[in-house]
Amino acid sequence: MRQILSRRLSVRNSGGGERMPARRRRIADRAADVVRPLAAAGVGAAVAAFVAACGGSSEAPVDAAEQAALIAEGKDTFRFDTFGDERFWTDTLKMHEVIASAVDPLTALSVGLKVDSEALPASLVEAIQAGAVDLTKPATTLALLRLDAVVGVKGTVETVNGVDTLTRVGITCALCHSTVDDSFARGIGKRLDGWPNRDLDPGAIIALSPALDADGKASYASWGPGKFDPRHNIDGKNKPVVIPPAYGLDGIHSVTFTGDGTELAYWNRYVAVAEMGGQGTVTEPRLNLVVQNGIEDLVTAKLPGLQAYQLSLKAPAPPAGSYDVGAALRGKAVFEGAGTCSTCHSGPQFTDANIRLHPASDSMAEPESPSYASRSATKQYRTSPLKGIWQHPPYFHDGSAATLADVVRTYDTRRSLGLTAQQAADLVEYLKSL
Ligand code: HEC
Ligand code: HEC
Repeated sequence: MRQILSRRLSVRNSGGGERMPARRRRIADRAADVVRPLAAAGVGAAVAAFVAACGGSSEAPVDAAEQAALIAEGKDTFRFDTFGDERFWTDTLKMHEVIASAVDPLTALSVGLKVDSEALPASLVEAIQAGAVDLTKPATTLALLRLDAVVGVKGTVETVNGVDTLTRVGITCALCHSTVDDSFARGIGKRLDGWPNRDLDPGAIIALSPALDADGKASYASWGPGKFDPRHNIDGKNKPVVIPPAYGLDGIHSVTFTGDGTELAYWNRYVAVAEMGGQGTVTEPRLNLVVQNGIEDLVTAKLPGLQAYQLSLKAPAPPAGSYDVGAALRGKAVFEGAGTCSTCHSGPQFTDANIRLHPASDSMAEPESPSYASRSATKQYRTSPLKGIWQHPPYFHDGSAATLADVVRTYDTRRSLGLTAQQAADLVEYLKSL
């Protein structure tokens, strides 16, 4: 795909400069309201000015009805909008041919695709329960696509010569950043937007494309579930990162593992255009990058809603009984004391992201080759927010810590904390409670 993509990619120096849609501008005017509490909390005036300049991302609603409408629009975009990326997934990668010929529902579930049970009519639910639906036939996948029931995959099914035919297919944000609650069966249930789909194997899916040569297929197939490399088609290097949550980000003015942008819309535009293949433009002077797909812009107008929707998604609370309350209380003291965790994981979101980024060596996943930070716009790492951390193992940007116990062990060793076994265990319980 790299070769294919680089043909569409014109790289030149650019001044960037993004026109802000009117609604967004209005919201930015209100960023000053957000800055005041920050400044009052003792964060330097420079930071406040910085936040004001970039618009912030947790503005008070302009008016409740307008805000609710914006969020509803963004939810629709997040779930169902392809930004015209069918040009890439259909015309270039020919994924519609693969799906129609080889992807029955069982295969789809096996590469981590999820089915939205609420999109299924009662008759189909009963038929599935009665075992009367053939889940080994690609035609069943087409039926699910027609119902908009495959999370993050948008298909157009038309009747050609009396036969249901998948003519176009594209992807949406929900492909990677939504999963389901498995309430119907494994992989089938109600949507959980913002939850990273760590079962999804995007590399294995892309590797099915008939448009790729053997080398291309091999590099995509090497990524594994829950991971994606959003820099691969730009710099040609190959080391994926875990798919992060898109929830719990309100109030954090630094997005991505490397803090490349000050608001979600920055990265949403990058992914929509440079990764999904949506129709529009993204420029990033720090990476000397300009990607323009087509002549229409199907992205910009949707960014304010998309951002508002993501900011409305809260990190999920830990399930009842999932941690030991007494131990967690003791663990909090370790987090703030002997563990020194709160020197970086500070404030309500457990991150100092609004104040600073960190040198690559502060990531417990470094040194790595190639270094993910070195491929980013900032060359640094953002302290990861920790709310809802129980929900999305494995940890660190490369997924190198399988469990929270591994995280604590790694910090203990690498930062020579000298924690006792009791302190380490308590700290793990605290992390599970966030
Ligand atoms: C193919 C999988 C995939 C798709 C599709 C995708 N993303 Fe992501 N997303 C990722 C990965 C991987 C990262 C981590 C990149 C990084 O932080 O460097 C990420 C990062 C993010 C982040 C940063 C989270 C944080 O903690 O700062 C947000 C927000 C986000 N994506 C939203 C979206 C939206 C909105 C869309 C649709 C326009 C989208 N993503 C489409 C895989 C995907
Ligand atoms: C010097 C700053 C710093 C200190 C101290 C620190 N962290 Fe971190 N933490 C980071 C950074 C930066 C990342 C992102 C690293 C990455 O993804 O590669 C991170 C990531 C994490 C993650 C993974 C989050 C995810 O979404 O995968 C957890 C969990 C975590 N830290 C817990 C802790 C605990 C527990 C301590 C104390 C023992 C601690 N941290 C101390 C800076 C710090």
